[in-house]
Amino acid sequence: MKDRVDAILDRSQAVYLESLLPPRDALLVRMEEFAADEHQPIADPEVAQMMRVLLRAKRPRHIIEVGTNIGYSVIVMGREGGAGCVLETIELNRGILTTAKGFVAEAELACDVRFHEGAALDVLPKLAGPFDFVFIDCVKTEYGDYLDALLPKLESGAMIVCDNLLWKGQVARGIHDPATDALRGFNERITTDPRLLTIILPLGDGLGISIVQ
Ligand SMILES: C[S@@+](CC[C@H](N)C(=O)[O-])C[C@H]1O[C@@H](n2cnc3c(N)ncnc32)[C@H](O)[C@@H]1O
Repeated sequence: MKDRVDAILDRSQAVYLESLLPPRDALLVRMEEFAADEHQPIADPEVAQMMRVLLRAKRPRHIIEVGTNIGYSVIVMGREGGAGCVLETIELNRGILTTAKGFVAEAELACDVRFHEGAALDVLPKLAGPFDFVFIDCVKTEYGDYLDALLPKLESGAMIVCDNLLWKGQVARGIHDPATDALRGFNERITTDPRLLTIILPLGDGLGISIVQ
């Protein structure tokens, strides 16, 4: 443990780092405003930027996202995927999915985006892998179940990115509620499972990055 572990996590550092993020284009800005107005939980800008970096390095061919919302992360990932990449995404809420399809159509992505409406735990078993990039950003109590459903469909070297692993600070503070307890267990699992190489970063609401060994 570093002596001054809180030296990089205080507010002024966060504000400074946010000022270094690249500006978003008009479509993503409009989506960020829409999400703020409609209280929709899209990825934080720093998480989106991390995704771009990871995807640029990984160059995946088959992406699976659990939790579409308005399609913000679909557009972020889809722009990196490019032609030849298939991006599958799952959303339970039909109205939100319709909104996502509209925004994604505007983005004119070169990759093949496949939207799936339904509960992730019903849809995942029906999807054929292998996948080489996973973004888990859905029901917090189900993260372990998503991993169980996905692991047999992941090739060696596949990358798994999970959002909200620190859950507003509640996981580390020892709060007990179903979502926080589930995430605490999930973090323990992905950092000790010998099949995974994992780092959890204090980025956004806590971002897990794992590689399937
Ligand atoms: C955090 S949001 C996803 C944000 C999106 N990945 C982004 O960054 O733009 C989670 C989404 O999961 C959806 N959801 C909730 N329960 C679900 C379930 N059981 N199966 C699939 N989607 C679900 C919610 O409606 C919500 O839109």
